[in-house]
Amino acid sequence: MQVIHYSVLKHEILTHLVPLSNEGLVVDCTLGEGGHTEALLSLYPGIRVAGIDRDHEILNRAEQRLEPFSDRFIPLHGWFDDILSDFPPELPRPDAVLMDLGISMYHYGASQRGFSFTTEEQLDMRLDTSQQLSARDIVNTYSQQDLADVIYQYGEERYSRRIASAICRERSSTPVETARTLRDIVYHAVPQGYRRGRIHPATRTFQALRIEVNSELTRLRRGMAAAVDLLAQKGRIGIISFHSLEDRVVKHHFRLLAGRAPGDDKDVEYYQDHPALRLITRKPIVPGAREVEENQASRSAKLRVAEKVGEVNHEL
Ligand SMILES: C[S@@+](CC[C@H](N)C(=O)[O-])C[C@H]1O[C@@H](n2cnc3c(N)ncnc32)[C@H](O)[C@@H]1O
Repeated sequence: MQVIHYSVLKHEILTHLVPLSNEGLVVDCTLGEGGHTEALLSLYPGIRVAGIDRDHEILNRAEQRLEPFSDRFIPLHGWFDDILSDFPPELPRPDAVLMDLGISMYHYGASQRGFSFTTEEQLDMRLDTSQQLSARDIVNTYSQQDLADVIYQYGEERYSRRIASAICRERSSTPVETARTLRDIVYHAVPQGYRRGRIHPATRTFQALRIEVNSELTRLRRGMAAAVDLLAQKGRIGIISFHSLEDRVVKHHFRLLAGRAPGDDKDVEYYQDHPALRLITRKPIVPGAREVEENQASRSAKLRVAEKVGEVNHEL
């Protein structure tokens, strides 16, 4: 099998997510093509890794790649927040949990689900292809206001209203079906100066649709809470994010559970006295110049790591 994805911050993950024992369990919540899992299984010959992915196709690819480790690799198909909340009872508490958020280069390059705006592919963007809602539905059925809100909230796109208005104008005559059509609508909706920016003007709109289709931020919040609950004491959680919305959610959650969030509400006060996490990285770890040179897609990656030192309070 030809591997398409280039695993980000692999060395840093191996340095910070060290299993507590030789027979420990690590949960890779975002298995993808299994690059991080392969590195962990190779470095620690006694551990097991449970690898979760919602996407059936990519999970199959990872299983092929990890065939040499089949006695120590446990594939789990589903959303990570669901699996972490209802973890298989036969498995022990994990020593480490990894999340490498977002989608894989396989999704951009080979899934044919319209993740990349350079293609004529149908606008789909579902990780779970049995789910009803696709990007095509959002673009063609959401009200103009709701569309603008999604693009603004999840894309942090300042021209969200103009873009939503242009989409609605177009779809009143012809449904918006493909990634390239949407890209062109966005391109023509924004001011000329914006078209020459650092990123393509459609980047934020595509990010917003992907987050909405797959409920990414809701699943991240729910998944992080369940992961900290599940971890063994002294176990570590490491999360790699790729945009500021994700990183803000991770940073806030880690700081809250570490009792380092400012404020005076009862959650903050509780964790100031009874921290559930200790921050290992005060500032996020980012890829070095060499990694960015080898893999441009890694340039926005940020890794935050924390260690479990207490319990999550479910009464709050
Ligand atoms: C960036 S890729 C992971 C790459 C992997 N770490 C590697 O090195 O090969 C993220 C993967 O997580 C999956 N994914 C994203 N969000 C998920 C969720 N909430 N539950 C389960 N899988 C998810 C995607 O389908 C994708 O395959």
